[in-house]
This record gives sequence, structure tokens and C-alpha cells, in this order.
Amino acid sequence: METKAVRFGIIGCGLMGREFASAVARWCHLTEMNVRPEIVATCSRSPASHSWFKQHFPSLQQTTADYRALLMNPDVDAVYVALPHHLHQVVYCAVIEAGKHLMGEKPFGINREACEAIVACMRQHPEVFVRCSSQFAFYPAVQRIGALIEANALGRIIEVNTGFLHSSDLDPDKPINWKRMTAFNGEYGVMGDLGMHACHVPLRAGWRPRNVRAILSNIVQDRPDGKGNRVPCETWDNATLLCETSDPQTGQSFPWSLKTHRIAPGQKNNWYVEILGTKTSVRWSSANADTLELMEYQGGEQSWRQIPMGHETAYQTITGGIFQFGFTDAILQMWAAFLREFAERRLPSKYSGCVTPEEVLWSHRLFTAALESQRNAATVAVSCQPMP
Ligand SMILES: NC(=O)c1ccc[n+]([C@@H]2O[C@H](COP(=O)([O-])OP(=O)(O)OC[C@H]3O[C@@H](n4cnc5c(N)ncnc54)[C@H](O)[C@@H]3O)[C@@H](O)[C@H]2O)c1
Repeated sequence: METKAVRFGIIGCGLMGREFASAVARWCHLTEMNVRPEIVATCSRSPASHSWFKQHFPSLQQTTADYRALLMNPDVDAVYVALPHHLHQVVYCAVIEAGKHLMGEKPFGINREACEAIVACMRQHPEVFVRCSSQFAFYPAVQRIGALIEANALGRIIEVNTGFLHSSDLDPDKPINWKRMTAFNGEYGVMGDLGMHACHVPLRAGWRPRNVRAILSNIVQDRPDGKGNRVPCETWDNATLLCETSDPQTGQSFPWSLKTHRIAPGQKNNWYVEILGTKTSVRWSSANADTLELMEYQGGEQSWRQIPMGHETAYQTITGGIFQFGFTDAILQMWAAFLREFAERRLPSKYSGCVTPEEVLWSHRLFTAALESQRNAATVAVSCQPMP
């Protein structure tokens, strides 16, 4: 099949910049794509990080420490930005204003104002295609859950529980880094880090939180600075939110609990979703990634079924359907979604697309209300006002 190349620049060559590059290197894994990414430019402050890209990507033409130089490169069509949160607004807006298509990382702005500024900039440049990274919804079981929601198979929604549970900060002697510093990570703390992931499925379903009661915890209050001292660690480690949520399609409301915990004993990197419905209930966790649990109720006995999902992907691959799916497969599927929607401006199905800026803006409304809820120990309305 003839494939068209989309020439990418990467700004921020850390963990996620390299995950994208690895997906590019594995593009031949996808069997039905008529478009492919090609890495032509990288921007990083550290010269050492360029060398890995140079070693593995012969298509690379430009390496720079200045993102503005990358944006002036006429050979760059689209940009993936994977930078600390305090840089999102300025760099995302610069990408859009340069007329380059953008995949931005969550939280898509350090706070709600920053996210609104990015969305406002995007609306002034409708020719630019913009999406936000969030890969867990591309696991086969989550795609199946999406299809069930879309087919109205769940009946009336009784309750939704989503979350992302890490144990990466359980060790109080783990040195501090930018993700634990308010100036770089933002006032949201763990919600900025993990929250968009946990919002992905409910927001794509069109469900909207009306109000929230949040309890935020700062469990480890100081950490080593790597130079022999302990320094304050001010960010929220764990966030537990309970939202009254409505489905505008049916007018019905239900509780949605959302947990983003960086200190979750016994967990590694566990993204989960559970939806209880009057006809069908579903649950899935990345800790047991191959297994979708499903309970259909038509009266009589109640019994959860376990369905092994194998490789039932939104975008076809060379991998046989019986083989299990993993984290890097989800990253590859997410990039397939970005490129397919970019090329065709439509999706094969509702849940097979990347998070939109409008969806991410809803996550900011929720997290901003959650901060106020924590401050005042109160239930706080989630703003649904359109942007000024
Ligand atoms: N989708 C996911 O699962 C996932 C996972 C981790 C992080 N993230 C998000 O990805 C983004 C980056 O996180 P990460 O884990 O890759 O961080 P990281 O610290 O591994 O990488 C960030 C990179 O940005 C570079 N950088 C910082 N300032 C710069 C500047 N002014 N110009 C150029 N480069 C600069 C740093 O040198 C570093 O290489 C964040 O928004 C984070 O929330 C997403």
C-alpha cells in the first residue's frame, strides 16, 4: 500500500519522546495505514538525548536545543511535545501558530487558564489538527467497553469508577524530580500527572461531572534532593474524587468516583475502569490486561464472565488475534489513531480516537473544582460555562 509520510518534530526527548520514536520504528506492525510518521527533527536541552535519536532514525535532519528553531523548519509538518507541564502553554501555542499539527501531552497546560489559552489559540487556527496523548483506552478490552457504551448495551448507568494507581512514590527516599514540584508539575499535583487518563472513557462517552467532592493527600512531605539534603515535596500525592455526573443524552445522573494515586501500596501502574449498568456491567484493569469482566443481567442468576481479549485492536496489526496486548502496543495504537484521524478527518469508531482538546478542557474544569473542594472541604460545582 502506498503510504504518505507525515514529517514529525519532537520537542522533549525524555521518556515519552522516546516512546513515540519507538512506535515510529515499529510502524510496519500496522497493516492498514496509508499514512506514516517520519522523525525529521528533535529538540532537547541535553545533547546526549539527541544521540539516541541519531543512532536509530536516519531520517533525522535537525537537532536543536531551541524549539523555535524546530518550528521554523519547513520540513516539519507535525510536532509531538512531551515537556514538563509549565512549558505546555507557551510551546503548544507556538506550535499551533507555526501552522504545525500537534500531539500534546497531558495535562495540556499546567492549569485551566493555560488549557483555555491553548484551546483559544487552536480555534484561531482551525487548519491545524490537535490532539492530546492518552493511550490506555486503546487496550482491546477498553475498546470493547466503548463499543458497548456506544451500542447502549449497559442500560441505565448506576455507577462509574475509574482511576490510575501507581506506587512509584511509595519509597519516601526516592529523590524529588520535576513531577513532584508545583512550579513544573502544577498545583493539581497527581491530578495533572494521571488525571486525564482516568477521565478518558467517561468524557468520550459524553458524561459530564456536575459537581465534585475531592480529598487530596500530601503523604510524603519532603524528599531527598539528590545532593544530600531533604527538600519540601509540596505536590498532592493522591486524589480521590466523587462526582455527581450526568449523561446529557439521557438526562440521568450517577456517581463517578475517580482515583489518581501516586502512593498506592501493592500497585505498579494500574489504570482501571468499572461501569455498573442495569443491563450490563463491565470492569477492566491494566493489572490484568487480557481479561475483560462482564456481567449481563436479564433476571435470574448473576454471574461475572471473564473474556480473554487477545489482540482485538482498533487498528489492525500483524499480530495474531490470540496474542496478548501490552503498554507499547497501546502507544502504537494511539499514534495510529492520531495519524488516521489526521489523514482522513474521521474515525473508524467513536472510541478509536485520541482525546480532543475539548475533552481535556473538561478534565481541567474538574480538577480546578477539585482543588477548591479540597480547600473548602465542600462539594463544588464543575463549571460548564463556555470559554470566554
Ligand atoms: N501518556 C503517558 O503515559 C505519559 C507518561 C509519562 C509522562 N507523560 C507526560 O509527558 C510529558 C513529558 O513527561 P516525560 O515523562 O517524558 O518527562 P521527562 O522528564 O522524561 O522528559 C522531559 C524532557 O523535556 C526536556 N526539556 C525540559 N525543558 C525543555 C526545554 N525548554 N526545551 C527542550 N526540552 C526541554 C527535558 O530535558 C527532558 O528530556 C509530560 O506532560 C507528562 O505529563 C505522559
